[in-house]
Amino acid sequence: MVTGGAGFIGSTLVAALLERGDEVVVVDALTAYYDPALKRAALAAVAAPGLSVVEADLNTAALAPVLDGADAVVHLAGQPGVRKSWGDDFVAYTRANVDATQRVLETIVQTTPGTRFLYASSSSVYGQAETYPTHEDMLPRPLSPYGVTKLAGEHLTGLYAESFGVWTTAFRFFTVYGPRQRPDMAFTRFLTAARDGAPITVYGTGEQIRDFTYVGDIVDALMAGIDAPAPLPRVMNLSGGSSVSVNQVLETIGAVTGAELNVQRLDPVRGDVFRTGGDSARARDALGWQPKVALDEGLRRQWEWIRSL
Ligand code: NAD
Ligand code: UGA
Repeated sequence: MVTGGAGFIGSTLVAALLERGDEVVVVDALTAYYDPALKRAALAAVAAPGLSVVEADLNTAALAPVLDGADAVVHLAGQPGVRKSWGDDFVAYTRANVDATQRVLETIVQTTPGTRFLYASSSSVYGQAETYPTHEDMLPRPLSPYGVTKLAGEHLTGLYAESFGVWTTAFRFFTVYGPRQRPDMAFTRFLTAARDGAPITVYGTGEQIRDFTYVGDIVDALMAGIDAPAPLPRVMNLSGGSSVSVNQVLETIGAVTGAELNVQRLDPVRGDVFRTGGDSARARDALGWQPKVALDEGLRRQWEWIRSL
């Protein structure tokens, strides 16, 4: 079962699972955070025998019948987006990232306690980390309300492992990119603007650094987590190893697209950390995982996708 399977990371995972012949149940509410037509299109693009789609809200739907028989639940449904999580929007974050996670975990305990549960956590739980590369045992101190909700969801997965023996792992994804990336994220915004000759907006100096991670590498780790023969560490970083600034990304985008970029600099945005950089040794040791796709190659693939739209 893939919750959030109509989204960016979810639909990419679903395609890979169907490709190898798994049966997949997608549960997704097709929320309006961005155009639900994009989510329907993603589902249509990956549809293959073995896929069933349940359009339902995890906060309200009866989950037991949907979960019944699932060997693994990959819980990607959530309210993403660091910069929008202030003010009145916060309730959407607690609802999708905390309450829905608790409902899915409760249902697993009541119906299929042997099901393994993989949770989409985030590098944003770290906030302004004290050292880089940041490893999992460092004290998480989120800088955004979004990060607070992802950390709360992560703690819930730990509680259900501790108290009920549910086999859970929280993967901390570091800024994921590639084809089908969400329209609110930097690379889709930058590449779309490059294609259309529109302004590129950079928040702050552009010197902020991210450990960008290609979506195919995230999917590899999730598949390894589904297949793992024994319980895994409760928390694992999934970081791509590309410690580059937004300004350096724009240079690469200029080279990949051949476009003259029209860059506009705006004020920094609250909640945006200065740097992320993960130590992925734990995922390497537990899963044999390491990121394979370098930033320039991943950007080329995302550029091809943007041009095909
Ligand atoms: P996305 O918005 O494309 O996908 C999330 C999906 O969840 C959407 O299709 C949405 O309709 C669905 N959803 C939301 N609330 C729901 C609910 N109550 N019931 C059912 N479905 C619901 O986002 P994404 O970028 O694919 O991210 C997937 C997950 O990974 C999220 O939990 C996000 O917080 C986490 N994450 C993403 C990144 C990243 O860089 N993209 C990094 C770290 C963590
Ligand atoms: C991303 C996802 O949106 C979160 O859901 C996820 O949890 C997070 O990664 C994470 O790894 O924890 P973010 O790093 O902000 O968050 O990803 P992008 O939207 O790709 O932004 C990357 C950088 O580009 C940020 O510093 C942002 O300020 C900057 N940016 C973004 C711009 O300068 N201009 C834009 O138009 C968009």
